[in-house]
Amino acid sequence: MEEEEIVCGIVGYMGPGEASRILIEALKRLEYRGYDSAGIAIWNEGKVEVARKKGKVEELRKEIADNEKFQGNLGLAHTRWATHGVPSERNAHPHRADDVIVVHNGIIENYLELKDELRKAGQEFLSDTDTEVIPHLISSFMRKPMAFIDAIRQALTELQGSFAVGIINKKDRIMVAAKKESPLIIGVGDGEYFIASDAPAVLDRTNRFIFLEDGDMAVFKDNQLSLMDFQRKEIVRPVQTVSWTGVMAEKGGYKHFMVKEIFEQPRAISDTLIGRIREEQGEVGFEELELPDISKIRKIWMVACGTSYHACLIGKHIFEANLRIPVEIDIASEFRYRDPIMGADSMLILVSQSGETADTIAAMREGKKKGAYTLSVCNVLGSTLAREADGVVFTHAGPEIGVASTKAFTTQISVLYLLLLHMGQKLGIMDSDTVRDLISEIKKIPRKIQKILDDAHAVEELARKYMTCKDFLFIGRGVNFPTALEGALKLKEISYIHAEAYAAGEMKHGPIALIDENLPVVVVSPVDQTYQKTCSNIEEVLTRRGRVILFTDDASHDMRQKVENAITVPETIYELEPILTVVPLQLFAYYIANFLGTDVDQPRNLAKSVTVE
Ligand code: F6R
Repeated sequence: MEEEEIVCGIVGYMGPGEASRILIEALKRLEYRGYDSAGIAIWNEGKVEVARKKGKVEELRKEIADNEKFQGNLGLAHTRWATHGVPSERNAHPHRADDVIVVHNGIIENYLELKDELRKAGQEFLSDTDTEVIPHLISSFMRKPMAFIDAIRQALTELQGSFAVGIINKKDRIMVAAKKESPLIIGVGDGEYFIASDAPAVLDRTNRFIFLEDGDMAVFKDNQLSLMDFQRKEIVRPVQTVSWTGVMAEKGGYKHFMVKEIFEQPRAISDTLIGRIREEQGEVGFEELELPDISKIRKIWMVACGTSYHACLIGKHIFEANLRIPVEIDIASEFRYRDPIMGADSMLILVSQSGETADTIAAMREGKKKGAYTLSVCNVLGSTLAREADGVVFTHAGPEIGVASTKAFTTQISVLYLLLLHMGQKLGIMDSDTVRDLISEIKKIPRKIQKILDDAHAVEELARKYMTCKDFLFIGRGVNFPTALEGALKLKEISYIHAEAYAAGEMKHGPIALIDENLPVVVVSPVDQTYQKTCSNIEEVLTRRGRVILFTDDASHDMRQKVENAITVPETIYELEPILTVVPLQLFAYYIANFLGTDVDQPRNLAKSVTVE
């Protein structure tokens, strides 16, 4: 028997509409959370039909299309991404025991003990999953007898681990949702209710949400909602309106979400600036953030995963250079296990698009335990990091659906830059004239990105030329070393081409051995204090017959003549260079992947929101 850990999307519906159509649509929008198998359960007057399919949601849609059995206006659905436990129909959700049907996101840690007990009591298991113990447990309590809701409550208190669950039973028109350490929200529509792992799933039908907390249970009966804890004590949670709309979560004429999101960056950054900058006064502030006295902060930590970690690397450069406070950077999965030395004089900044990345959440909790002030930079309202950190600043990128992160990254850099100005001012390091000047620089960024996007065809041609290469080396220095890392990550993730990134100065300490006429070297180097040094690295590559693709703001230098290709980006100040230089790298990766015909928005083996370790 295999232990199973899953990241996935769950969704549920109760209302007057056609549940199967609504749920399949919602599930497609949750596919970024997982796409190796999917399933649906539809309730109709004392009957429940279940379908499960290996593969994408589209396979499930075809399976139930035009099947009258799947008519009804109450149901649950699930899309799965397995990290342990093979993707297969029998492991796909929903799971069922007798009359009880469950979809689940999370990990039940004590499932082996529970399964053992339930088996001894005569229950028969049909899958390898941890999830299947949940319907069995509920069903065993119902046989005692116990009412459906009480049986659920009882079962939930016996589960160890994390869960977001949607539960229905064959007999009654009732849907129950509950959560502990896995994301789950309620969409409040017009005479209809939804449960979902994430808001984009149902944004086409509502933008009003209740963000459930750990230990919350929601009961939907007769199209009414009651909220309670696992002890059946009534609880109250506000209905919050999000500014995201359904259209924002659609492709809007683009071939892929990723390219749409790359092209949305000027708007995303403008939205991230709105309301935070007062240029005339030379002030930066955040409606949602009241910083404590930061004069006692001796060390800042920035911790995240993947692309968000690259934003932290940039953050370190710009914070240290301007605030003169040491900044330590860590990958969340490393930080959480290495007993970091921090205390009340530390500020821990957690950067996360989803706000649900398990390692980053664990890092935040570790920091809190050690007495640090925790501040999250998130894109998703109501997400765990947004709720649990001591402070939060939102990136206003809008929903990011493409698995490869793009607009989240550039808005994260924007927020870190604004935070730098805000803190600089609070600490008395930056006066309002300095802040005014720095505000005027970031205000120009959306227009400059637009200029890069207007010339996207040049990058597309470059992609056509290099699409058959098997390996790439990316190099950069200072704030553009993280840009090189990000460019290589984008290429790897969506085109499956091997790419490595190095700090340019490190080349001669090893990677230079790789260089020959088959290795394209992507050099990210605007004219700044290290430009001449990087030019020397370019010479080193050229003497070894390497092929150089240069991304620079130097329109005149003779280096452009020497390299195989050069792409020009607009000039900006050092702190903001990566927001511009990363854009052609995103496009480069996108166009190569598009030419190669890979599944750009849902690359193999990846999930957008990694809610397990
Ligand atoms: C890469 C990518 C991932 C995420 C990482 C963290 O394109 O999207 O590397 O950046 O999984 O996710 P968040 O930012 O949601 O914590």
